[in-house]
Amino acid sequence: MTDELSRNERIKEASDYLRGTLADGLREEITGAIIEDDAQLVKFHGMYLQDDRDLRPERTRKKMEKAFAFMIRVRIPGGVLTSQQWLALDQVARDYGNGTMRLTTRQTVQLHGVIKSNLKATLKAIDAVLLNSIAACGDINRNVMCNVLPEQSAAHAAAIALARAVSDHLLPHTPAYREIWLDGERIAGGEQEVIEPIYGKTYMPRKFKVVVAVPPSNDVDIFAHDLGFIAITDGAGNISGWNVTVGGGMGMTHGELDTYPRVGEVMGFCKTADTVKIAEAVVTVQRDWGDRKNRKHARLKYTIEDRGLDVVRSEVERRAGVKLGTPANYKFTSTGDRYGWTEGADGRGHLTLFVQNGRVRDVAGAAQQSALRTIAQMHEGGFRITPNQNLVVANVPTSQQPEIERIAREAGLLAPWSGLRRNSMACVALPTCGLALAESERYLPDLISALDERLAAHGLSADDIVIRMTGCPNGCARPYLAEVGLVGKGPGRYNLYLGAAFDGARMNKLYAEDLDHAGILAALDPVFAAYAAEREKGERFGDFTIRAGFVAASGNGREFHAAVRLLPARVPHP
Ligand code: HEM
Ligand code: SF4
Repeated sequence: MTDELSRNERIKEASDYLRGTLADGLREEITGAIIEDDAQLVKFHGMYLQDDRDLRPERTRKKMEKAFAFMIRVRIPGGVLTSQQWLALDQVARDYGNGTMRLTTRQTVQLHGVIKSNLKATLKAIDAVLLNSIAACGDINRNVMCNVLPEQSAAHAAAIALARAVSDHLLPHTPAYREIWLDGERIAGGEQEVIEPIYGKTYMPRKFKVVVAVPPSNDVDIFAHDLGFIAITDGAGNISGWNVTVGGGMGMTHGELDTYPRVGEVMGFCKTADTVKIAEAVVTVQRDWGDRKNRKHARLKYTIEDRGLDVVRSEVERRAGVKLGTPANYKFTSTGDRYGWTEGADGRGHLTLFVQNGRVRDVAGAAQQSALRTIAQMHEGGFRITPNQNLVVANVPTSQQPEIERIAREAGLLAPWSGLRRNSMACVALPTCGLALAESERYLPDLISALDERLAAHGLSADDIVIRMTGCPNGCARPYLAEVGLVGKGPGRYNLYLGAAFDGARMNKLYAEDLDHAGILAALDPVFAAYAAEREKGERFGDFTIRAGFVAASGNGREFHAAVRLLPARVPHP
């Protein structure tokens, strides 16, 4: 640890409200990259500078620059898109990106492979359908998530309204995005006037993530996020207020025990009228109290671990001028998506499709991107990206339902039979993510096929078991909240975690390290066998692995690393 502010803090401070030298760097034709400081700033504009890691060896051999390109993450509060917006994103993916779209675990779309000279055209096309990528990455409030299907009830409508209100309120005020990407004029003499009333010059110490959940669905994985609101309804289904959660976060570093994932805690209850004030107060407390020296200790979860929830709550109440009430009772049942048709309040149907790991593309035998384009062209009800990397075709009138279902079925977009696959997520990892230590998106589907054979042998094929994989411990697919979590350790090697709760409230625990493909199968097969033989009625896989003594139940925060007993230990439950 150091007493110095982190390098990123100095970059933000000197950036003139996120401008840096980005505008000049874009004009620099000699390289496909941008300078290092700007690469940090461009994240606040929703982009990551990446290179195709598959091509690295060949390009090094030929003494060529890395194959640089940008990932663009769109800002889509609640994952709600019109059909026209879907079509526009599909078009830019094909015109300027690598041809595919990636639905993410935080309800947005990522486009990969956009080269520097196409960035502006891409962002203009996105702007033309009233979307943008402002603050989709970076040390700032990111995309606000919301339980899907706001049309379903009054509570859902209130949830998306809250998600949008918080999202708008926490947007940065700097005009840098418009200036740089959309050729907006820089207002002469107005430079000093840019004031970020909430963030100031240096924005947040680290990323900040907000979600809104409507029980019994915890599809947004509320406990994985810095700040959350749980809808509390009265007997008639109307919102009486919100439980406020704080202090969740997934990222950690292998081998560094003072970094850890953490589940958020319920801090109190507030009325709808106070929600935005509370959100702002939580943000400013973290803005002022968060660690700006050590980026690995800079999320709200560490502030809460270090200072305690009571101290943070009092300060939030003081700043908001709101006294939080006693949390109301609530019950979550799962973090998964409800596949197939659900009927909306107005009689129209919503069809939840399965998109493997969120990758929308056409491959031999499954022209999924084309199928979704066809649906978007014929259908006016819009789409919802789910927090599980899936897609809802929303608001389908009865007359169109058979045709849309047929198109989806033919493209292989209906939910698979395997309970494991239905509940699977993988982060992007290779070849685009510079932080990946191992494959994830390109490997998990095959691993699931192999695991499905074992599950079938034990009669468990249809059981819902949550499995999530990431290529590194940053945890973009929230692996520490999966009943089976796999986290990349090195090429072809994974750490295996077991024992998370199906409703997303308890993390898992390390069970075996450095497993290769055969090792994963060998480690899990006996656990599946025991589950089939010994489970109690209705007992979830994650709960079973604890009761049966495979892993200890994980405590929160620092406790994540405690009581780890590596395979093959199996301690009988007392
Ligand atoms: C703590 C450090 C983290 C870092 C440095 C980090 C960095 C990155 C990078 C570089 C990518 C781009 C990968 C690509 O598209 O090629 C990515 C993807 C993504 N990250 Fe993170 N990430 C972190 C943690 C998290 C966490 C905890 C979450 C969510 C709870 C998250 C959510 C996402 C999402 C939604 C994507 C898009 C792909 C997907 O759906 O998996 N990230 N992250
Ligand atoms: S978990 Fe790691 S490997 Fe996967 S996308 Fe996130 S940063 Fe990249």
